[in-house]
Amino acid sequence: GPRPVSPETRERVLRAIEQLGYKPNHFARALARRKTQTIALIIPDNANPFFAQLSRAVEETAFEAGLTLVLCNSSQDPKREVVYFSALQSKRIDGVLLITSGLDASQVHALVDSGIPLVVLDREIPNVYVDTVLVDNVSLGYAATKHLLQHGHRTIACLSGPSSLLNSVERVKGYKQALSESGIATDESLICCGDFTFEGGYSAAKKILAKDTRPSALVASNDLMAIGAIHAVREIGLSVPNDLAIVSIDDILLAKISVPPLTTVAQPIWEMGQTATRLLVDRIRGNASPTPRRIVLNGNLVVRESCGCRVASSATSSDIRATEVR
Ligand code: RIB
Repeated sequence: GPRPVSPETRERVLRAIEQLGYKPNHFARALARRKTQTIALIIPDNANPFFAQLSRAVEETAFEAGLTLVLCNSSQDPKREVVYFSALQSKRIDGVLLITSGLDASQVHALVDSGIPLVVLDREIPNVYVDTVLVDNVSLGYAATKHLLQHGHRTIACLSGPSSLLNSVERVKGYKQALSESGIATDESLICCGDFTFEGGYSAAKKILAKDTRPSALVASNDLMAIGAIHAVREIGLSVPNDLAIVSIDDILLAKISVPPLTTVAQPIWEMGQTATRLLVDRIRGNASPTPRRIVLNGNLVVRESCGCRVASSATSSDIRATEVR
């Protein structure tokens, strides 16, 4: 098309195309270059601001490296992740960043065996030895609980994420550790399994509030569930923090505009997305060591009002070092 050729030549080429059934294949060009300059990010729930904020970090970092990003939302369904894996492989994606909703090692190995570089972030997958970026989730649960203990609370409920996820299990472990250090035995009836959503937090909090002996405080494993819990408390005419003090985890943008503003253990969302993307770019470009890297980042407690503290604006306590806190 763009290049000038004689009408006779053009005719001969068009005839050859027709006879051969030739179709231009854009992927062929990518295959020739053996790169599509595209990476994918698979997230569990694009309605959750945590993943929206993390996707921003990934996209910015990928763009700086000259790559485009394909965003896949698994809607918290591991089976959908498997469908995305095969679709991405057929599109010759250069690399995948995965936040899983519960895939096990055997399912992930299929992607690893395909040779496509994979970085796991936020939710570590047991027995999968690939580059991984996460936060020490035990220290997140520990720090949230510790702060409520420092307020003098002794009956503290815990709203966990899905029990199929290692980061949920580890946050509950941190909650139990903090209680035990204060000489408080864990009351399993105070631990409710949630799903990291507003609705899940709301319905779990209703169960907690209906108990004969109502707890005075709650650790929520993420901000969306904490906001759902606040809604449940206010719906029955009670108040946060006076009737139920709450500390959660994440520090999404909604945490500071919540009523009351959430005291929460902030995850380094941007740093996690940026670090994971840089690891993947290194892996794709052959600049990484053969042994997988495991990077553990730190959280930090952001004190606002849902715990009972009186602060003018969100003050940040010193960083909670994973090793120090535990
Ligand atoms: O809010 C979503 C939660 O799931 C976060 O705590 C994050 O760690 C993700 O795993």
